[in-house]
Amino acid sequence: MSCAKGLTKPRRVLLALGLVAAFAALMPLAPLAQEDFMDVPPAPTGPPLTPLELGIKVYKSDFANCELCHGWSGGGGLPLMVDGMDMDGGPPLVGLKMTREAMIEVIACGRLNKGVMPGYFDDAWTAKYLCGGKTAAQVPAVERPPMFDPFLYMDEIEAVVTFIETVYMGPGMNLEYCMMYFGPESRGCDRFR
Ligand code: HEC
Repeated sequence: MSCAKGLTKPRRVLLALGLVAAFAALMPLAPLAQEDFMDVPPAPTGPPLTPLELGIKVYKSDFANCELCHGWSGGGGLPLMVDGMDMDGGPPLVGLKMTREAMIEVIACGRLNKGVMPGYFDDAWTAKYLCGGKTAAQVPAVERPPMFDPFLYMDEIEAVVTFIETVYMGPGMNLEYCMMYFGPESRGCDRFR
């Protein structure tokens, strides 16, 4: 037996609407997905990046900013301000003569010499990853380069080194690499066409 019995038709409709509204208020409309609770990165689409592609992504990214100091074409950069600190532009990477291992270490640990090259690896300057054979405790703070936060993973550091080796220590920026860097349609690459 319906409790709405005896109600006029419009009233019955109102009651029904009221019940729906009450339910809607109590229950979320759609079941909550896992993403609503956790910071789950979206599933990758397409094939995974090659080391060269990952290296380009890191080099030009605003979380690593290699490009700002070393230039997109590897020609070196202008002095700039990072986190309120005056930093010199990076030296050219074109034609660089350096071993892979030495490049990985300079990017992981950073280097304070004539200019400031920030370090990028979380474990750098600890017993897990020595810098120049030392931990932070063995080198006065003023002699240590600043560390860049957020940090890079070691596979990202290796990938950016692969990019430097392949492009700047290789033929330099050309149409093929420029299109990988800026996208195939980029007018920035017209100079190579
Ligand atoms: C704030 C500016 C700055 C940023 C950002 C920066 N660099 Fe540097 N980098 C420098 C400077 C300055 C040097 C030279 C340090 C010195 O005086 O020895 C250098 C040195 C280097 C060297 C060694 C070059 C040589 O001739 O010995 C490599 C390789 C390098 N950077 C790669 C990178 C990569 C890859 C990134 C991004 C992950 C990066 N740098 C980000 C400024 C920067």
